[in-house]
Amino acid sequence: MQITFNVNGSEIELEVSPKERLLDILRDRLQLTGTKESCGKGECGACTVLLNGRPVNSCLVPAAQIDGAKVVTIEGVRQWEGYPAIERAYLEHGAVQCGFCTPGFVMSTVGFLTSVEEPVAEEEVKTNFGGNICRCTGYEKIFIAIEELANDDAVIEQIREDWENAFENK
Ligand code: FES
Ligand code: FES
Repeated sequence: MQITFNVNGSEIELEVSPKERLLDILRDRLQLTGTKESCGKGECGACTVLLNGRPVNSCLVPAAQIDGAKVVTIEGVRQWEGYPAIERAYLEHGAVQCGFCTPGFVMSTVGFLTSVEEPVAEEEVKTNFGGNICRCTGYEKIFIAIEELANDDAVIEQIREDWENAFENK
């Protein structure tokens, strides 16, 4: 089948098999390899991208579901004005070790920041990030970084503006 969808602001037209996974389309056909594969069955969050503004496990999304959709990957978010604040928080709190899970955590962080209402407590962060697994950091540092970001008005405002602008005129 023929599908048309938008990735990081670019319109993409592809001939796909309906069951082809979004993860494989991103990595193998569009060379967007920042999105990682680990479990391949929706349990680890390494493959998280934004699909129409919501974080999803791209290993579970068939091509048939992305016709007409808007997808943002870690490569797109790295261009956003709000991205350096996320990177800084993760680095300052030592929330990255091997980094394999990090793109997925960052994408879930972006999704969280676009929907969250302050004040945000650590418990809320833990509940929202149950779908992202990290084998290195012990989670605490990641959650501290996310909690700090989620209680920063300027960061939230910028990320929401970035999302609004991500597909404008594209
Ligand atoms: Fe998709 Fe683990 S690779 S959830
Ligand atoms: Fe290694 Fe998370 S930093 S799995």
